[in-house]
Amino acid sequence: MHCKGFSIIGGGVMGLSIAYQLLKQQQQVTIFHTPKSTTASLAAGGMLGAQNEFHAPSPLYPIALESRALHPVIAQELYDLTQLQIDWLPTSLIKVATSQQAVPQLKNQFHFLASQDATSIDWLDGQQTRQLEPFLHDEIAASVHIHQDYQVNARKLMTALWQAVKQLGATIIEDEVLAFEHHQKKITHVHTTTTRYAIEHVVVATGAFTTALLSSLALRCPMHAVKGECVMVKSDKPLKHTIFTTDGYYLVPKCHQQILIGATSYPFQQDDIVTVSGVQRLLSKAMAIMPALKDAHILDSWCGVRPQTMDGLPIMGASPYINLSLCTGHYRNGILLSAITGQLFSQYLLGDKTAKQRLEPFQFARFSS
Ligand code: FAD
Ligand code: GLY
Repeated sequence: MHCKGFSIIGGGVMGLSIAYQLLKQQQQVTIFHTPKSTTASLAAGGMLGAQNEFHAPSPLYPIALESRALHPVIAQELYDLTQLQIDWLPTSLIKVATSQQAVPQLKNQFHFLASQDATSIDWLDGQQTRQLEPFLHDEIAASVHIHQDYQVNARKLMTALWQAVKQLGATIIEDEVLAFEHHQKKITHVHTTTTRYAIEHVVVATGAFTTALLSSLALRCPMHAVKGECVMVKSDKPLKHTIFTTDGYYLVPKCHQQILIGATSYPFQQDDIVTVSGVQRLLSKAMAIMPALKDAHILDSWCGVRPQTMDGLPIMGASPYINLSLCTGHYRNGILLSAITGQLFSQYLLGDKTAKQRLEPFQFARFSS
């Protein structure tokens, strides 16, 4: 079989966002996808933490801000096309120091963020923090209110993207890609569990599963999986903001009184088991932030694997094979970065020089120099 145009391996938020943007440009797109229980995009908290996640200058920082601003536009586009909501909610984020010891670390981040844009954040003491969120623990010593770090519902975003790419005419092949065939430095075919497909250009967007796939090309991809677990609860004590601690735990208020509690972090683990100790840690962290959650109802728990690279930056661009591009390694921020990645990466694939330039800091080649 012959796949015309662009073949994308991986139907996570990256593969689908790229496919969506290419299809809008009337390109032919085939998506190879096999469901995996640890798909990161289905496990995510949905935070658009463009400022929250940065503590120091990074080439990713301006891109993250741009992506955050693009999300409501994509949400509207997806709604117009599919009639599906992705719950883009303007629930701003409060980053809290849960003890006095955590205050210096928070202050450092505040100084960095203020040096970039002082108008978009506020420093609050404990009392001011509880004025915004009355159910927070008395021991919360200080916080940074980040006005525009809003959120979406990651699973709804995925459902809407799948629907959109289907409506725009993508060919979906529900099968796992196991290997590539190549002639010199050009990929000629991909092999799935059942079939051999001739391809023109292939994009690998397989998240934390990329290392295994690329090993069939003897390409060493310096990435590893970081497993994370979450719990969903329902609480009649309301929360209006996302609350995020300096050690990476969070409460994200969702629709219908639900609060998403996240997330554990286990480097080099990629199993799909939600452990008792993981849930215990999440619940005790959650109650240390908001004691009233002791009466909340547990609704669900799950886990996923984040794709992390050796230097913490994603890999977006060319590979040593002339018709194979890579888009992976978005670690903790793939939902946030999906909007801009879909745009920039599709422009890059269509030969846009500015997009190529903007993706320069994220080249795979940086690991071989
Ligand atoms: P994935 O979502 O993992 O998708 C890859 C897909 O490729 C999978 O569906 C897999 O089935 C498919 N695949 C793999 N190999 C093959 C193959 N050989 N053939 C065919 N298909 C294949 N980010 C945020 O911005 N905000 C958050 O609040 C947030 N919270 C998170 C919370 C948790 C617990 C986790 C785990 C992650 C979180 N993230 C968050 C990070 C974000 O989820 C990821 O960065 C992002 O989803 C990565 O998307 P992806 O498409 O690269 O990978
Ligand atoms: N960005 C939140 C997480 O990865 O858990």
